[in-house]
Amino acid sequence: MKTMINIALPKGRLGEKVYDMFEKAGFECPSIKEVNRNLIFENPELGIRYFWAKPSDVAIYVERGAADIGVAGKDILLEYSPDVYELLDLNVGICRMAVASKKDFRDDTEKTLRVATKFPNIAKDYYTKKCRDIDIIKLNGSIELAPILNLSDVIVDIVESGNTLKANNLEPFETIVGISARLISNKASFKFKTKEIEAIKAGLAALVEVK
Ligand code: PRP
Repeated sequence: MKTMINIALPKGRLGEKVYDMFEKAGFECPSIKEVNRNLIFENPELGIRYFWAKPSDVAIYVERGAADIGVAGKDILLEYSPDVYELLDLNVGICRMAVASKKDFRDDTEKTLRVATKFPNIAKDYYTKKCRDIDIIKLNGSIELAPILNLSDVIVDIVESGNTLKANNLEPFETIVGISARLISNKASFKFKTKEIEAIKAGLAALVEVK
């Protein structure tokens, strides 16, 4: 019987783009294109099974071995440090983690900086390196509201087009790190299903290079 590879993909626009890469690399699963609410799709002939997970959960499935491999944003990998192998930068889902604030904000280094974010660990690491005293305000979304309502001085958040910041009269003023989607693997799976995982990695890597 063929070894089955379980692949966790991030549900949404990025996931669809990433699935297209898997398909081009020869790991197609036609049933995934059917319009329905199914979450799991398999192609037994190729020995692959895809499932759609919430993007921030992909690394959890992979770390715990519910998925052998998956695709997660570098933001999630930096924030949660899951115990997985990072195999390949897929060069899609490109954005950056940035500090932003109201246009007229001036940092008073005598005062504790109030930082609103969905990424407390990334923010803490960044300001620790700068020896800046901060107060983290952990939010779960719509981070741009925080400086507008004076809940925080700055935000640490993902900037892609910059449109959300602009629409809310905020400005990015420091880039913390560049972000893109990464192919990740469960450590035990990589050991026991090396051949299959390496084949997928090589197929995807060929597509990344020709970009
Ligand atoms: C992300 C991020 C910004 C926005 C940036 O939010 O938190 O709000 O995208 O994109 P842009 O620079 O292209 O405007 P997301 O859509 O994930 O929703 P959220 O507010 O729930 O975090």
